[in-house]
Amino acid sequence: MKNQQWQLKTRPQGLIGEEHFERVVCEMTDLAEGQVLVKNLYLSFDPTQRGWVNDMESYMPPVAIGEVMRAGTVGQVVSSKCSDFDEGDLVQGLGGWQEFFVSEQGIGLSKVPEGVTPQEALGIFGTTGLTAYFGLLDLSDPKPGDTVLVSGAAGATGSVAGQIAKLKGARVIGIAGGPEKCRWLTETAGFDAAIDYKNESVVEGIARLCPERINVFFDNVGGDILEAALDHLAMNARVILCGGISGYNETEPRPGPKNIMNLVITRSRMEGFIVIDYLSRIGEFLNDMLPWYRSGQIVHLEDVQEGFDNIPSTLQRLFSGQNLGKQLLKLAEPE
Ligand SMILES: NC(=O)c1ccc[n+]([C@@H]2O[C@H](COP(=O)([O-])OP(=O)(O)OC[C@H]3O[C@@H](n4cnc5c(N)ncnc54)[C@H](OP(=O)(O)O)[C@@H]3O)[C@@H](O)[C@H]2O)c1
Repeated sequence: MKNQQWQLKTRPQGLIGEEHFERVVCEMTDLAEGQVLVKNLYLSFDPTQRGWVNDMESYMPPVAIGEVMRAGTVGQVVSSKCSDFDEGDLVQGLGGWQEFFVSEQGIGLSKVPEGVTPQEALGIFGTTGLTAYFGLLDLSDPKPGDTVLVSGAAGATGSVAGQIAKLKGARVIGIAGGPEKCRWLTETAGFDAAIDYKNESVVEGIARLCPERINVFFDNVGGDILEAALDHLAMNARVILCGGISGYNETEPRPGPKNIMNLVITRSRMEGFIVIDYLSRIGEFLNDMLPWYRSGQIVHLEDVQEGFDNIPSTLQRLFSGQNLGKQLLKLAEPE
C-alpha cells in the first residue's frame, strides 16, 4: 500500500510557501500488533504550524527536515490491531499532511464524539473552541458592562472568543481585515462594532468605539495592534496573549510594544496561555459549547479547501487573511 505525504524540505525564512515542502510517495508496511491504521479525512490549518517549522525551542519540538508536516487531523480507522479502536471509528489526532498514518497503541488518538462532524471536531468543538473558551474565561472572566476588544476577530478563534464575551454580557469590538469580515462580525456574529484594520486607523477606531477604554483585550495578532490596544486600557484591564500572527513570518524578532508601561499605570495584567494545558478540561468546555452552538447562540464558519495538491497553499491562506472562519482541507468523506 502506498502513502502520499508532504514532508518539510527546508526551513522558511519569512513567508512560508509551497517551496518549503516536498511531495513524497512511500510504501506502507503491514500492521504490527498494537498498531492502528488511520486514513486522514480532514486537515486542520493553524497559524502555529508556522512556528512548528522553526528550528527553535517551543511548546512542541520543531518538525524535522524530511519529516511529515505536523497537522491536526480527523481520520477514519482503516484497520486496527489495538483493542481500543475498531475499523470505521472516526478519530482525531496529529495525523499530519499525509493520506494515512499509523498510531502505536492508539497513542495520540481520541474518538470523535457521536453526532460531531469532522469539521466541528477540528473547529468549534476542537482546539479552536477550546482556545477561545479557556483563553477568554480563565484569563479574564468578562463581566456585564465590560468592553472586550478582540483582534483577529473574524478568524476561527477570535470569532468564538468575541461571541462568548457577548454571552457573558460584555460589549464586544472586533478588529479584522476588510469590509466583508467586519460586516460578518456585526451582522452575523453579534459583535457591537468592528474596526477594519486594513482600511482605517486602529488607534482612532479604538478611541472612537471604546470611549470608556478596554477592560479585556483578546489578542491574536500582536505588533502594532497590541500597541494600539495598550494605549487604551481601562484600570485593572486584562490583556490575553492568545497569539501574534502579525509576526509569525518575520525574519527578525520585533521589538516589544513601546507602551508596555501602560500595564503598570493602569494596574493591568498581560498573560499568555497554550491550549494544550486545557485538554483535560474538555468536558467542562463541551457542557457550555454544545448547547451554545447547537442553539445558534454561537455561530462558526468553516472554510473548507479540497485536494491533496492544495495542502501547502492552504496554509498560506491564514497569513494572507483569505480564510473566512476555521481553515480546513478535505481529503475524503467518512465511509
Ligand atoms: N494560545 C493558543 O493555545 C492558541 C491556540 C490556537 C490559536 N492560537 C492563535 O490564535 C490566533 C488565531 O488563530 P486561528 O487558528 O483562529 O486562525 P484564524 O484567525 O482563523 O486565521 C488567521 C487570521 O489572522 C489574520 N492575520 C493574518 N496576518 C495578519 C497580520 N499581519 N495582521 C493582522 N491579522 C493578520 C487574518 O485575518 P484578517 O483577514 O482579519 O487579517 C487571518 O484570517 C493565531 O495567533 C494563533 O497562533 C493560539
